[in-house]
Amino acid sequence: MLTLNALYRRGAPVAAALKPVGAVEPTEGPRGGRPRAAVVGAGHVGAVAAQRLAESDLFDEVVLVDVVPGLAAGIALDLWHSAGLARFSTKLRGADDLDAINGVDYVIVTAGKPRKPGMSRTDLTAANAAIVGPVAERIAQVAPNSVIVVVTNPLEEMTHLAAVRSGFPPERVLGMAGVLDSARFRALVGLTGVARPDEVRAFALGSHGPEMVIPLSQAFAGGKPLTQLLDAATLDAIVERTRDSGAEVVKLLQTGSAYFAPGQSAALMVIAMASGSDEVLACAVEPHGEYGLSGTRVGLPVRLGRHGLREIVELPLTAAEMSALREAAARLGERIREVG
Ligand code: LAC
Repeated sequence: MLTLNALYRRGAPVAAALKPVGAVEPTEGPRGGRPRAAVVGAGHVGAVAAQRLAESDLFDEVVLVDVVPGLAAGIALDLWHSAGLARFSTKLRGADDLDAINGVDYVIVTAGKPRKPGMSRTDLTAANAAIVGPVAERIAQVAPNSVIVVVTNPLEEMTHLAAVRSGFPPERVLGMAGVLDSARFRALVGLTGVARPDEVRAFALGSHGPEMVIPLSQAFAGGKPLTQLLDAATLDAIVERTRDSGAEVVKLLQTGSAYFAPGQSAALMVIAMASGSDEVLACAVEPHGEYGLSGTRVGLPVRLGRHGLREIVELPLTAAEMSALREAAARLGERIREVG
């Protein structure tokens, strides 16, 4: 039995029940020691991602990089000032050169231009390809064993480009979008009052865009099928609003795009890998026959491990959901081939 005094002794074990909710165990990196993570692009999404990574206290160090001199260093210093308040020991460093991420285990790529009101994500292809391509090449040189999590839009195209230009195997180049889109769906279900967002389980698959597929056969709240809790018209409206949520935020902000939920979603993927959590997350990956798909990058439910993608999880989708997913994959395949 653990006495209260024992809790105050340095290094004393803490009973599981006394740990804060959501606490994650300190972990070893893929190559021993605490893992190191980097965030490329110190805009709002990058700053939030770095904050969530640091606050998880799982990492030895988080390195933030941005081409704007001083920006990453300033954010890293400001974040480090919060260490005593947010109770983390993760070191933070900012730099304006990718050499600084030498040997890191995980790299979140947020570098690129955000949308302006009225723009679609694919309007960003040329501008962001010119940024993501060279960044991926440098990552391969300075952090050759890392796992890359791409956030830059258009998401699936940039994930593919990062894979091609880094030369990394498909397991080590993941796109962040499904975690975000699923979270938006869960948040919007929460607005109806049937459940809290964190009680809703659902996956946004397909594309981070018009071909988003949210299979309602796989959506539950507190263990009950969502289709039993909400009528079809309400669910359709929630799916539609989820699909347009990024644009809804862009329109309200006028300058820039969403960052709290996107930054946290990217961090969550890295935390899932570093902590070896076995949860199923929707991520953009390259399928090899799963769901009958190949030759594309598409949002699918996956399990992540310390070295990246562990497995694509095949959910029992309905025939209509399956055909929507195949259609999304086909459209994405066409756009990806245009990127080269
Ligand atoms: C969004 C951007 C990140 O959906 O694509 O907010």
